[in-house]
Amino acid sequence: MKSAAVFLLIFVLINIVYSNELSQYQDDHPSSGEPSKLNLANKTLEPEENWFEQKLDHFNTINEYIIWKQRYFMNDKFYRHNSDAPIFLTIGGELAISSRWVTMGAWIEFAEHFGALCFHLEHRFYGKSQPRSDLSYENLKYLSSKQALADVANFIESMNQKYSLSCKQKWIVFGGSYPGALAAWAREKYSHLIHGAISSSAPILAKVDFVEYFQVVKASLATHSAQCVEAFGRAFAVIETLLRHEIGRRDLNEKFNTCTPIEDSIANHLDISNFFQKLADNIAGVIQFNNIKRPDANYTIDEVCNVMVNTTIGPPVDRLGVVSGILLEKAKEKCLDYKYEKMLSEMKNISWQSKVANGTRQWTYQTCNEFGFYQTSNNRSDTFGDRFKVDFFIKQCMDIYSESMNATYLERVVAETNRQFGGLNPNTTNVLYVHGSIDPWHAPGLTSTNKPELPTIFIESAPHIVPTCIHRLKPIHHNSPRRVIKSLNIWSSCWVIHI
Ligand SMILES: *[C@@H]1O[C@H](CO)[C@@H](O)[C@H](O)[C@H]1NC(C)=O
Ligand SMILES: *[C@@H]1O[C@H](CO)[C@@H](O)[C@H](O)[C@H]1NC(C)=O
Ligand SMILES: *[C@@H]1O[C@H](CO)[C@@H](O)[C@H](O)[C@H]1NC(C)=O
Ligand SMILES: *[C@@H]1O[C@H](CO)[C@@H](O)[C@H](O)[C@H]1NC(C)=O
Ligand SMILES: *[C@@H]1O[C@H](CO)[C@@H](O)[C@H](O)[C@H]1NC(C)=O
Ligand SMILES: *[C@@H]1O[C@H](CO)[C@@H](O)[C@H](O)[C@H]1NC(C)=O
Ligand SMILES: *[C@@H]1O[C@H](CO)[C@@H](O)[C@H](O)[C@H]1NC(C)=O
Ligand SMILES: *[C@@H]1O[C@H](CO)[C@@H](O)[C@H](O)[C@H]1NC(C)=O
Repeated sequence: MKSAAVFLLIFVLINIVYSNELSQYQDDHPSSGEPSKLNLANKTLEPEENWFEQKLDHFNTINEYIIWKQRYFMNDKFYRHNSDAPIFLTIGGELAISSRWVTMGAWIEFAEHFGALCFHLEHRFYGKSQPRSDLSYENLKYLSSKQALADVANFIESMNQKYSLSCKQKWIVFGGSYPGALAAWAREKYSHLIHGAISSSAPILAKVDFVEYFQVVKASLATHSAQCVEAFGRAFAVIETLLRHEIGRRDLNEKFNTCTPIEDSIANHLDISNFFQKLADNIAGVIQFNNIKRPDANYTIDEVCNVMVNTTIGPPVDRLGVVSGILLEKAKEKCLDYKYEKMLSEMKNISWQSKVANGTRQWTYQTCNEFGFYQTSNNRSDTFGDRFKVDFFIKQCMDIYSESMNATYLERVVAETNRQFGGLNPNTTNVLYVHGSIDPWHAPGLTSTNKPELPTIFIESAPHIVPTCIHRLKPIHHNSPRRVIKSLNIWSSCWVIHI
């Protein structure tokens, strides 16, 4: 039966999520957002890097013969070597890929169960997959989701040949976050090559002004207490007041450990916007990765809110200062650097050796050229104020890359992206969408459908997730796993009927 593999896959997912309730699995294992080396100790040899000759431009015959080397990892440890063993592909995204990802995580457990062959393909322009000699604006025109999806298709066709895979062997693609969207879109665009997709935390509706992001952040803070949200709101409002006076400004330098005195920047509204945006963004990072226990992001909503409601520390703005200090320390930053010009000069560095070549310059370009997703705050009387509206982000596109990337441009490219992939109404089947309720990225994602061929799982209290760590999620409320299981059963039955 055509559907067996994918159905079983979901079934395994159920068992793994369910077993969470019964075991302390995630508590005695290190991080899962970024798999830890410790976890792997002596179990497997590091998989070696493989390179694939990829086309530079899939859509222009003039450049057809220009090629570059794309990196991938492979794991055939569990491969059954028969003509109906499935092939799993985890699609890379806005970061370098790591060999560790092909040796651990939920999808590897699925692979063991199904005897699947596993691949992990790096996204063009990230990590070591460098199609051009630098990251100039001119070169970045070859960086797009459309080209990346064509890379995936070309990769699959070539692997089918290279390993003499049978046409009965089904390719299942995986991805979380941006790669989650790519996984869903790959199935949509290349359904003749890809049988199904598991898409987690995927923002599939492009949007210039992603104002919902901080609304979910606020709602997630409210899961701790209304007082926590209120304390944040008071703190941000008091910053506005302090900014108006000389003494207040000096006070802010001290409370927030600014790298340069804020009184020197007061006339530059871009610096002030950047100051507010950085403060809010650091807090949002806690929510997005709540309880994932990444070594670099293991601070939780509860910990943040416990400080924010602790009156012994002082007024709310002092508590925010304490939270901000802890977050800076975790990020290994000496002080809060909010200078706009400095950020620009870093972002404009086109060298593969620069700090921003870790993905920051490339991903920001993709937001300016395809997706938007600007996490804005527009409302003076709301929690995070009105200091980082959408024009602040569009200005960055124009300042970093090109004057032409203005508001009109953004509206046009975002509309084009949604036209191409169908936004929240994709023209596809056999895609499972998984989201966590406290993850702000569920807002532009598909969290429910009435189409049985497009099942969704909405995990209560879960943060931003990638498929490799679904099984490590810690259920926070004891009633939630059961509800999750109930829905999973319903959806898995629907899934099997309609494939
Ligand atoms: C494997 O185990 C040995 C002894 O316990 C240890 O010294 C070594 O570092 C381990 N190797 C890896 C790759 O962790
Ligand atoms: C969180 O990370 C810090 C290092 O940044 C570490 O000292 C601490 O033990 C970690 N806490 C947990 C609960 O993992
Ligand atoms: C509040 O903060 C004070 C000072 O840092 C600390 O001693 C106290 O334990 C905190 N109270 C709670 C309930 O966390
Ligand atoms: C870009 O970054 C590299 C590596 O950090 C550095 O050596 C170089 O000077 C930077 N270039 C500019 C123009 O700032
Ligand atoms: C890349 O480096 C920048 C600047 O050091 C840092 O802010 C950012 O978090 C890094 N991004 C990733 C994905 O590591
Ligand atoms: C601004 O925020 C306040 C407080 O949350 C809310 O009452 C008001 O409706 C918001 N205004 C707009 C235009 O969204
Ligand atoms: C953006 O630039 C185009 C020309 O490059 C211009 O026609 C358009 O009016 C500009 N839009 C805005 C909002 O400035
Ligand atoms: C939806 O996809 C099918 C098959 O892939 C295609 O034939 C059809 O034209 C598409 N419909 C729309 C509205 O794009």
